[in-house]
Amino acid sequence: MRRARIISCASYLPESVITNDDLAKRVDTTHDWIEQRTGIKSRHIAAKDETTSDMATRAAQRALEKAGLTGQDIDAVFLATTTPDQTFPATAVTVQDKIGMGDKGFAFDIQAVCSGFIYALATADNFVKSRQVSRALVIGAERFSSLLDWNDRTTCVLFGDGAGAVILEADDSAQGTKEDSGILSTHLHSEGAHRGQLYVDGGPATTQTTGHVRMNGREVFRHAVTRMGEVVVEALQANGLEGKDIQWLVPHQANKRIIDATAQKLGLPPERVVLTVEKHGNTSAASIPLALCTAVEDGRIRSGDLILMEAMGGGFTWGAALVRY
Ligand code: ACO
Repeated sequence: MRRARIISCASYLPESVITNDDLAKRVDTTHDWIEQRTGIKSRHIAAKDETTSDMATRAAQRALEKAGLTGQDIDAVFLATTTPDQTFPATAVTVQDKIGMGDKGFAFDIQAVCSGFIYALATADNFVKSRQVSRALVIGAERFSSLLDWNDRTTCVLFGDGAGAVILEADDSAQGTKEDSGILSTHLHSEGAHRGQLYVDGGPATTQTTGHVRMNGREVFRHAVTRMGEVVVEALQANGLEGKDIQWLVPHQANKRIIDATAQKLGLPPERVVLTVEKHGNTSAASIPLALCTAVEDGRIRSGDLILMEAMGGGFTWGAALVRY
């Protein structure tokens, strides 16, 4: 059986760090309010001329270097983003060019807001399993700061910028069991009736402007706890596993309280949950690969570990992926 294995991962964070105290100078908020409600203490913000494709390319190049590969070894780029460089072309084709793939393979963007990386991973996994792709770059990259209304304290304190990338490689030696290395299963959901709870109030076909993030925080919180709790159970049950079998929960990093609720549902102690929200804020589609790479680079996640990733975002969209690293 063929499985898609993660053979490399890397990330990129912009240099500039904005603390909660910095934000308190701009809007009516405090470090304590932000930290207690969300767990966020600081976030990275892209430089004025730093684009989503710049950050995605840096993460992709680092992932390639770590694997000893070049762009010519990649068949496809799946880039999850809500903040493309331009309305079109896809930011993924800019990355394809910048990493030297030339006309090899194909590249496209995936838009599922904060669930984007799970959607991109699921898409790439299916291309690998159907033998159309042998090696893929899966990237989550966001310049979310461009979508923020910096006078709206209910949203501007929550988000940050960054990028993370993984390389998937086909492995035809898998046995088709939960002991295999690679992606064991992915689970995607959406419910468009809730699209008005978290959205951007602009777009090419409506206002012809980029717009700003608008959110009903309490409703988003309520749905996030419910849906992420459901989808992690769905992923475990699909593989005949229980919470105790998971070595690492690598959740979307939106809010520590939402993450704690999911960990509690799984019966996982805090030391088995990868948390980066404190330093990164919510980087939307970039948050899971940023967290994954943090724990791989500091030696917590090792080969053979079972990892559960989950996310929820605007739409609503939500999903999970179970991966043996
Ligand atoms: N600083 C100080 N006070 C604030 C701030 C702020 N930055 N923002 C809001 N407040 C005030 C509100 O105005 C309100 O004041 P009032 O009682 O006088 O009206 C009070 O704080 C409480 O506001 P709530 O919105 O009820 O606060 P809550 O406890 O729900 O926390 C939060 C807000 C942090 C946004 C929470 O609802 C949340 O995390 N929701 C999920 C949002 C999210 O994660 N979105 C990301 C995208 S989706 C995803 O990734 C899952």
